[in-house]
Amino acid sequence: YPLELIRNFSIIAHIDHGKSTLADRILELTGAIKKNEENKQVLDKLQVEKERGITVKAQSASIFYHHNNKDYLLNLIDTPGHVDFSYEVSRSVAACQGVILLVDANQGVQAQTVANFYIAFTSELTIIPVLNKIDLKNAKPEEVTEEIMTIFDIDPDSILKISAKFGTGVDDLLKAIVDRIPPPTNCDRSAPFRALLYDSWYDKYKVRMLILVGVICQIFVVDGTISVGDQIQSHHTGKSYEVKNIAYLSPDERPIQKLLAGQVGILSANIRETSEALIGDTFHLKGQKIEPLPGFKEPTPMAIICLVHVVTCNNYLQVYAGIYPIESNDQLALKNAIEKLTLNDSSVKLSVESSNALGQGWRVGFLGLLHMDVFNTRLEQEHGTPVVVTTPSVSYKIIRRIVRNIPKQKSKKATVVKEEVEEFIVNNPARWPEDAANIETYEPMAKATIITPEAYVQNILPICEERRGEQVDIKDLDSKRVIMVYKFPLNEIVVDFFDELKSVSSGYATFDYEDAGYELTDLVKIGIKLNGNLVDELSFIVHRSKAQVVGRKICLKLVETLPRQLFQIAIQAVINSKVIARETIRAVKKDVLAKCYGGDVTRKMKLLQRQAEGKKRMKMIGNIEIPRNTFIEVLKK
Ligand code: GTP
Repeated sequence: YPLELIRNFSIIAHIDHGKSTLADRILELTGAIKKNEENKQVLDKLQVEKERGITVKAQSASIFYHHNNKDYLLNLIDTPGHVDFSYEVSRSVAACQGVILLVDANQGVQAQTVANFYIAFTSELTIIPVLNKIDLKNAKPEEVTEEIMTIFDIDPDSILKISAKFGTGVDDLLKAIVDRIPPPTNCDRSAPFRALLYDSWYDKYKVRMLILVGVICQIFVVDGTISVGDQIQSHHTGKSYEVKNIAYLSPDERPIQKLLAGQVGILSANIRETSEALIGDTFHLKGQKIEPLPGFKEPTPMAIICLVHVVTCNNYLQVYAGIYPIESNDQLALKNAIEKLTLNDSSVKLSVESSNALGQGWRVGFLGLLHMDVFNTRLEQEHGTPVVVTTPSVSYKIIRRIVRNIPKQKSKKATVVKEEVEEFIVNNPARWPEDAANIETYEPMAKATIITPEAYVQNILPICEERRGEQVDIKDLDSKRVIMVYKFPLNEIVVDFFDELKSVSSGYATFDYEDAGYELTDLVKIGIKLNGNLVDELSFIVHRSKAQVVGRKICLKLVETLPRQLFQIAIQAVINSKVIARETIRAVKKDVLAKCYGGDVTRKMKLLQRQAEGKKRMKMIGNIEIPRNTFIEVLKK
């Protein structure tokens, strides 16, 4: 395929606006998959994606399209819509020249439509605006067109109208992709080979079946050609490998002998260590001197496995939690699983951590709680390693000022006063400094955009205030909807703000947020004691004004979530050693066979087995059994 016959594009949209459904229709229309009622989100391959009906990983497919008597090669990337996975969108657009900006013709522009538009706009990509779901009875194409025009300054004549579900208008959209999106720019087939590594994963099945060894790399070839048998070198590590297999995805793997500049595809090259396939790296031919492609940031020293960001990942906010194996002898298996999963999801940050109660584990930074939930589900589903996750926390900045009297030289009595300033980040409440008097605390802030029908504004204002939100702006988006801009402390919105927003707006309000720097504030650590023992894994940081109320809530929540045990449990919330709230859980004698009269052995066995399975989902801290989701549950409203 000559460069002028190639088009690389992504589909971007707010969650549920129909990206994956549109990808299905495009694959059918171009013959990549057979037309079939059963084709539902075929590019969503992960179990967690199928179960939840959401995309969490960007997926690509190369398809062939005949238009104007020419055969075009279209490389399509379907991206996730949820704010926690925006990193996937940024990573995907690095390999594209254009995007389809899909907007639900009933719901109109939503918070992630705005966020994704700006990712494409700032990357200077061609944007094809498309209204989807025009088949719906309550679709409002005129109104939504008006919105797109005013918010994004887009020419209404350029907006296409489709139904991804029924395929209406999709053929015209394919024509627009070819006509409006430019072929790959800045690609040179006669220059020495250079390719951007923009995704990588570990195929357990293929490795087990001895079909291939190591990691699969997805690349966008920017210059030159790569063929099976070539020796390639990683710009980042300097290590070189022989290319064993090359293929394109359509959406199934189709082996080929070479890839040319402008094309995307996958290759395997005996890369065994996941840390050797860092997303954003540049591959070139062994021994050649080349300029690396933009998009790679050096791992920072705190990372033990790999910590990489591509493009704008630094702008994303992180939520941290400790991850521990349920059984301590699963330590190695969990290490391997985390290594493989971070390869496939390089937006997570990782460092080792240990806890008195939970043993050896990891501190992991996620882009949000859904991201954290999906990561942990994938650890269990794809790698068979269930985990305990501790209370999530954001990263706080602490400045400690220490004033010292230093004796003057040559004089035994006279001293000079010297102030030393120390600045550090704490993302684990267990590491919160004890000397509270000498520290200034800073918390990360987020600028949030909420879009809601006007009728729900009165319900939303109090929940924003309760979470210490500061209103920056509020204005009409159109005749029925309002756009609100707030500044929030990140820790106030990260756990369950979105759930609450949905519930007070009957599901209509949408929400997106971005980094707004650190601000000076007054924070304290609340520790939780169970029967007098501090369980640091349950401790958390709050604003001083909320300490009393939150401490009491957490104690009550623990009464609800901790199973009753054979002895009484005293729960206390403390600041330093001062108790601010307390509750008690009464003892119970738990005899699962108590109601099992007579001699039905199989029933008894079943009950005992169920009890044993239940225990696997518990973690012993001291002599207290704690269900593994307790750490997160206590923070939810
Ligand atoms: P995420 O990847 O999770 O962000 O979602 P998505 O944007 O990929 O949306 P998806 O394709 O999963 O579609 C969401 C829902 O909308 C599904 O129930 C689809 O069947 C439905 N849907 C998609 N396109 C249309 C359409 O044109 N008409 C109608 N009526 N429903 C549609």
